[in-house]
Amino acid sequence: MIARAAIAVLALASAGAAAQVLDFSADEVRAVLRHGPWPPAFVPDPSNRVSGQSEAIELGERLFFEPRLSREGRFSCASCHVPGLAFQDGRAQGLGRTELDRNTPSLLNVRLNRWFGWDGAGDSLWAQSVRPITDRREMDSSASQVAALLREDPEYACRYRRLFGEPRDAPDQAMLVAAAKSLAAFQETLLSGRSAFDEFRDALGRGDRLAAARYPIPAQRGLRLFLGRGACTACHLGAAFTNGEFHDIGIPFFLREGGVDPGRHGGIRQLQASPLNLLARQSDDRTGAAAIKTRHVALEHRNFGEFKVPGLRNVALTAPYMHNGRIATLAQVVRHYSELDLDRLHADGEAILKPLRLSREESADLVAFLESLSERASASPRRRPIAPCRG
Ligand code: HEC
Ligand code: HEC
Repeated sequence: MIARAAIAVLALASAGAAAQVLDFSADEVRAVLRHGPWPPAFVPDPSNRVSGQSEAIELGERLFFEPRLSREGRFSCASCHVPGLAFQDGRAQGLGRTELDRNTPSLLNVRLNRWFGWDGAGDSLWAQSVRPITDRREMDSSASQVAALLREDPEYACRYRRLFGEPRDAPDQAMLVAAAKSLAAFQETLLSGRSAFDEFRDALGRGDRLAAARYPIPAQRGLRLFLGRGACTACHLGAAFTNGEFHDIGIPFFLREGGVDPGRHGGIRQLQASPLNLLARQSDDRTGAAAIKTRHVALEHRNFGEFKVPGLRNVALTAPYMHNGRIATLAQVVRHYSELDLDRLHADGEAILKPLRLSREESADLVAFLESLSERASASPRRRPIAPCRG
């Protein structure tokens, strides 16, 4: 209904307007509106009892920048998820104690994820936050090291006590999980800011042609391709531009040292074996609703070589691309979809994808659209000095 009204207003206003808005059909306007509103409302994570709590956010922020979370005191989360680089590192593959096999994802909008990691081996933000701490190749720490830090540093001990109770009495493993839940509470505050696309979307919704016309024509044409012939929205849908699931788009998944990255197939196995998945007792969701996705996940052959559909907000700020950082620029990503080699997709793979054979202008339009998803100003809270804890 809104869409139809918007079209009428657009048509009326179009006469004589110097700046241009392409004549988006009612269906197209509806499709555009589905990529918002932005920012999304905050919904606390039911599996994390400190989700949304300001004291947990503060503790999590400190821990995020804390090199003592790593065994040798050399890495913090922020070493790889760099705040000034949209919380990624600009490298093809993450670099911890050794080089990793996968690209470091941006943590902006991470709370909207359904699964975590390129293979979805994590089903909650807090479980995913334990992984780098204990992974040998990343921070190589342990529950006992983290627990000792939280007990012995007076500032951490004070904060821990206020949130979770007396640290001296808590088992190491419970303290590691509590630290991860605080890290998750902080990461839930990381959101990308509004983009030129959001201004256009809202202007279309209001039927405000003058405001809509500020969105450059190449981006408008690219948006049309994205929704239409490109079929990008089959996977990159909704406000975060992802369906939250896993697909194979023919990115080679061979590893340098031989072997392959099994992608979602390996992720499901790890998830099911994890003592920290949402079916385990560390989840604070007593209704069991949060764990439904985990209970129903089933390993299938087709999962081999599938990777998570990344959200596309701020994508121009997070090169290089794909799970292994193999593609350097957005123009090359568009070329990948344009010249897609169907033989690269595994046999029972995707029926949605076909080579798009875009013209040079169409490719440039699609890139212009992707660039219009970048924030104009950060929406994440500014880092400010955190007052010392008074227990
Ligand atoms: C050595 C670099 C490195 C460090 C240190 C690191 N990460 Fe990561 N992070 C990565 C990489 C690489 C991935 C992708 C992992 C995968 O797909 O298997 C990732 C994935 C994630 C994800 C999943 C994001 C998504 O979109 O699914 C979260 C959340 C995360 N890291 C949080 C953290 C936190 C919290 C810390 C500190 C406790 C941390 N990371 C430390 C490199 C790092
Ligand atoms: C069948 C589902 C599907 C369709 C359709 C699809 N994508 Fe993707 N997209 C993915 C997956 C999965 C990845 C990650 C693949 C990997 O890392 O191996 C991805 C990655 C990307 C990336 C890289 C993002 C990053 O942060 O690394 C961009 C950009 C992108 N897609 C844009 C598009 C555009 C533009 C279209 C339409 C022409 C499109 N996608 C169509 C599933 C899809």
